[in-house]
Amino acid sequence: MSNTTPEHKIVSLTNDICDTFRWAGSQIRKNKDAIPAAGKVIAALDEIRDEVRVVRERDPAATSDLEVLLLYSGLHAVLAHKVSHRLYKKGHFFTARAVSQAARAITGIEIHPGATIGRGFFIDHGAGVVIGETAEIGDNCPLYPGVTLGGTGKDTGKRHPTLGNGVMVGAGAKVLGPFKIGDNAKIAAGAVVLEAIPEDCTAVGIPARVVKCKNSKINCEANKNLDHVHIPDPVSQELCKLREQLRRLEEEIERIKTEETQKGE
Ligand SMILES: CC(C)(COP(=O)(O)OP(=O)(O)OC[C@H]1O[C@@H](n2cnc3c(N)ncnc32)[C@H](O)[C@@H]1OP(=O)(O)O)[C@@H](O)C(=O)NCCC(=O)NCCS
Repeated sequence: MSNTTPEHKIVSLTNDICDTFRWAGSQIRKNKDAIPAAGKVIAALDEIRDEVRVVRERDPAATSDLEVLLLYSGLHAVLAHKVSHRLYKKGHFFTARAVSQAARAITGIEIHPGATIGRGFFIDHGAGVVIGETAEIGDNCPLYPGVTLGGTGKDTGKRHPTLGNGVMVGAGAKVLGPFKIGDNAKIAAGAVVLEAIPEDCTAVGIPARVVKCKNSKINCEANKNLDHVHIPDPVSQELCKLREQLRRLEEEIERIKTEETQKGE
């Protein structure tokens, strides 16, 4: 790329801006005893740097820290929530809500100031994510576009879900109610989850059902002893039975073929 192209000029300018910020940061650190509130500024800068790092680690499409800082709406929503949550905890409910609504207008992501969010939270693409007031999110949870962590309208007090650490919620999934999604669970794109999901399990469909736990697929045999009152999707149960019958038939055909071959030898 030639040094005079507009793109080169933009890259060079943004590098200069980054250098200036790094220099300002190092000056604040060096003179932290002399500058009032330097500790708070350093802590805030460290938090922002951590959030940028999380996005860089999780999104292979991110090409630079500056791109993430300026152009990632998921990051903007998370940073705005840090501000609104602090205001909320201090009882400034109106201002907290104003910050979260401003962030929503800019990013398309609505996080209620009361929601509790752990470290390493990542909203990919962002658009259409809604997180309710009493939702709790553990550490290192990625969320994709169109996710709702909401209530059913039937509960009072704690109304929204709790996500353990390392929970992934796929695009368009809705998790509705005050139950827990266990650590490292995966909620598939498009699922509607209405009950607790155990840790290390994958839930898919509407209403969501567990199809995999600790890397083993759940088959109909494994479901035999489950509480059938709480398996709410009769169509998927029928499909599951058919799949099990098909598997047994395939095994039977395989066994007969092997016997025939052995007889022929
Ligand atoms: C669920 C998911 C995380 C995969 O988890 P996994 O534990 O590796 O599960 P598997 O891929 O082994 O799938 C297990 C079963 O669920 C089914 N399944 C997977 N995703 C599903 C979905 N979204 N809806 C319905 N069924 C789904 C699979 O077909 C498979 O069924 P089978 O047992 O009949 O073969 C992944 O499919 C997914 O939905 N990721 C979301 C990604 C996303 O939202 N991207 C958006 C980017 S903008």
